[in-house]
Amino acid sequence: MDFPRRFASSLLFVLPLLIAGCADSLTQGKEASSQNDWENPAIFSINSLPDRSYFLSYDSADAAMRDASSENKRLLSLNGLWQFHFSEDPESRPVNFYQPNFDASGWPAIPVPSNWQMQGYDYPVYTTSGYPFPRNKPFISQEYRPVGSYLREFTLPESMSGQRLILHFGAVKSAYYVWVNGVKVGYSQDSKLPAEFDITALVHDGDNTLAVEVYRWSDGSYLEDQDFWRLSGIQRDVFIQAVPQTHLWDLAITASLSDNYRRGQFNVTTTLAHIPKGADSADIRLTLNNPAGDTIWQQEKSVVVKSEKTITTFSAEFDDIKPWSAESPTLYDLTIAVTTNGHTEYVHQPVGFRNVAISNGQLKVNGQPIIIKGVNRHEHDPVSGQVVSREAMLNDIRMMKANNINTVRTSHYPNDPYWYTLADKYGLYVIDEANVEAHGYGYDEDMSMGNDPAFKAAIVDRMHGMIERDKNHPSIISWSVGNEIGPGPNIQASYELAKSMDPTRIAQYENRRTWHPGKMTDVIGWMYATEKEIDEKYIGNFNEQPFIWVEYSHAMGNSNGNLKELWEFVYAHPQVQGGAIWDWMDQGLLKHDADGTSYYGYGGDFEPAGIEHAGNFCANGLLASDGTPHPALHEVKKVYQNIHTELTKDNQLIIFNRFFFTSLSGFTAHWELLEDGRKTEQGTFLTPGIAPQSSQTINLDGVSGKNFSQQLELEGKPLLKAPLRPNFWRALTDNDYGNKFGEIAADTYKFAGEKVSVTGIETVRDDDAVQLNFAISLDALHSSGSLHYRIYPDGQADVTFIADLASDLPEMPRFGMTMQLKEGFDEAQWYGRGPFENYQDRKFSADLGIYQQSVSELYTPYIRPQENGNRADTRWLALQHNKGPSLQITGIPTFDFSALHNTIADFDHPKEGPNRHTSDIKPRNMTEVNIDWRQRGLGGDTSWGALPYDKYRLLPASQSDAYQLSFRLTPQQ
Ligand code: GAL
Ligand code: MG
Repeated sequence: MDFPRRFASSLLFVLPLLIAGCADSLTQGKEASSQNDWENPAIFSINSLPDRSYFLSYDSADAAMRDASSENKRLLSLNGLWQFHFSEDPESRPVNFYQPNFDASGWPAIPVPSNWQMQGYDYPVYTTSGYPFPRNKPFISQEYRPVGSYLREFTLPESMSGQRLILHFGAVKSAYYVWVNGVKVGYSQDSKLPAEFDITALVHDGDNTLAVEVYRWSDGSYLEDQDFWRLSGIQRDVFIQAVPQTHLWDLAITASLSDNYRRGQFNVTTTLAHIPKGADSADIRLTLNNPAGDTIWQQEKSVVVKSEKTITTFSAEFDDIKPWSAESPTLYDLTIAVTTNGHTEYVHQPVGFRNVAISNGQLKVNGQPIIIKGVNRHEHDPVSGQVVSREAMLNDIRMMKANNINTVRTSHYPNDPYWYTLADKYGLYVIDEANVEAHGYGYDEDMSMGNDPAFKAAIVDRMHGMIERDKNHPSIISWSVGNEIGPGPNIQASYELAKSMDPTRIAQYENRRTWHPGKMTDVIGWMYATEKEIDEKYIGNFNEQPFIWVEYSHAMGNSNGNLKELWEFVYAHPQVQGGAIWDWMDQGLLKHDADGTSYYGYGGDFEPAGIEHAGNFCANGLLASDGTPHPALHEVKKVYQNIHTELTKDNQLIIFNRFFFTSLSGFTAHWELLEDGRKTEQGTFLTPGIAPQSSQTINLDGVSGKNFSQQLELEGKPLLKAPLRPNFWRALTDNDYGNKFGEIAADTYKFAGEKVSVTGIETVRDDDAVQLNFAISLDALHSSGSLHYRIYPDGQADVTFIADLASDLPEMPRFGMTMQLKEGFDEAQWYGRGPFENYQDRKFSADLGIYQQSVSELYTPYIRPQENGNRADTRWLALQHNKGPSLQITGIPTFDFSALHNTIADFDHPKEGPNRHTSDIKPRNMTEVNIDWRQRGLGGDTSWGALPYDKYRLLPASQSDAYQLSFRLTPQQ
């Protein structure tokens, strides 16, 4: 988003920027005399090996094929327990700790990989944009500049001796030096890409020591201003790869399609390295297997390997290749065997044949204008921070696939290599993003880091390293230069680098500023652009560039309203090809309160007092921090579904196949017929072979609904703990805070339901009922209205609440009534939308039906408690007491409800002041029932100002009729 924007209301946020602004002008032109590497943007690696693709070398073809790294005799994992020392600044660090005779016997153990803040050292800081240290690039000039010193010993297995030894760090944040046996090996930055060092000459038989000194902040941190927890340490795998002295250094595969996407065009470039002086000979054998495991091609070349780089190319063409797409992720298996002097190393690489291109202004995969049904995903774990296990990755990808998600943007940095392996295998399009964000410097010409020549090399290097590492993954369709960095020549150079390195994919950059004229992107991805903005500024103006939101629909708290509308818009505009929701999972970190109750903490729960943080803005997930789906995920699944059905007035069912590569033959359709919510018939049929992107109509004749009327017994009983009264308030959601709804509505509506006075009473008796009519004054709303109770002899009562609201009143949170039932009303059954939480602008996925849940299950625990639990379009709701009696509420015609063991006030808490958590929500001995004519929509286009769409707002000014809510209460013994 544009800068500044997020916490406009927070002075805390603005002040440090102003101060940092002064620091900028003071230090302008300042050249440090002896610059630290970690404050020198020109130095981001010393002595590390060149960038290359990520793969492992095995000594058996079979182990390579199975990616069985635990059986890999060429691999020495250095994960596990290291010794660790934490210093608050470089001055107090143990300078000589890398020397072999250093006594580290008192140092405690720390797991690698890990973030040291999650191991009891230092503290996590959560800020959104703006650096957690004084902004003064490239310097880290504050007092607190932690350094972590890591030590471990290792013994080289005999099988590895005589080999070339490559020390690999998957990712270390943010800058680090490495020593082996007391000798300095090198230095590296970029916390999300590997660095490799040749340590062959330094390792000896017996025990070796490895020392790593990690700086929490560095000049690299200026390019790592992502909106997430700022954590540090050795955060991905560390290992030594042992390869023959002549070995496969790199490999580049292109696998594309021709002849109507049937013929495979296959090219492999191998780069062999030969380390000692002189020449060696090598046999390179490539084998390609089809998905069934049959070898379909083999080619062998003998080469003389002279220099450090010997490049050999292989190519082949195949008839009848099965293409790779996210819908059918068909993978072939390439094995490369390199034999020198009787030793063979084996490398396995899955291959997907597919084409990515932009034509006629649309992004196309295998010629089809696919739709991006995406999410943004951070690497986050509530316990380990940014170290994510393979199991968690697998779980994520399975959940994504199960919810019709077809794309992930690796916001905002290259992910763990395993993630791409999963994306290739399970089928996800990936937008791979370089570890480049400089939001704290904004987007203006004079400030933009995209326009700072001192950082150009570092920015471009981050792109280069990512492309080299990830280039062989079919799942990656686009290279992103980074996120939220201002435009300029650095960005242009990064974009051009991607285009020149890789013509088989697109490249992208998101920004709305136009002061830099050079081309920087293939797609327009304006984050959070509204339909209006896209209509006005995009449509018709970018005939070559498709529109794909890099981020849209902000899932903070109870959010993601109006997805249905957004997707109607996508489907109506061929050049608008979807986008990626912000984002996948809440970034809460596990904590425990004084009683030992666990909850997920957010900004402010970890930082010492006085340290700036951005509260719960880190919790914008479709999943809660523990991976539990938020109800909004159902809506995502629905709008992303590929089999779309519509029922016409004359009972025809239209099935539209929104897949691009998958026919519907072989799918089984399940149907149910409900009468007043009760299933009366059901069946299944095999869907006809509807071709991709086409539809078929199915006749449903003979199937129609009847209306049943309710026959209920009558019995009066005092069931209430607090009486039924009007209510206009809801616990504010994060989006409500974002659009300042509290400031607009609280004074008027918060207590308006309690400030009702009766101005007249009338009693009317007729044959079957007594009718009480109250004229009321809604004192807080300078408006009048009436309440009507029609009471039948059997104890039933019809309730009507009418309000003639003054047209100068602000927008209303809700129009309804509330009451509290006595303890024991613990079960709910309803005929309406469900079973999960839904709202007027997030109910497309919530089918009508009769559902049953306990009152506890009706609650959705958002990380920061807020409005929750609504169920829309309810025909009736029955609340059942565990001793028998029940109360049924029948809509005249429908209502929205929530029924919870808490009050609105329990969930409603100012954002200022102490943080609130799920552990603060203690169920009460009652059930509060809110019966609403309507509640304000959730909105969700952003959480910093976007309003619910007009049709989901309650605006007295634009309402010509009086507001009216009617329902029947039926107590039952
Ligand atoms: C975007 C940004 C994301 C995140 C989001 C708000 O502007 O790219 O990283 O900050 O806003 O949650
Ligand atoms: Mg540096």
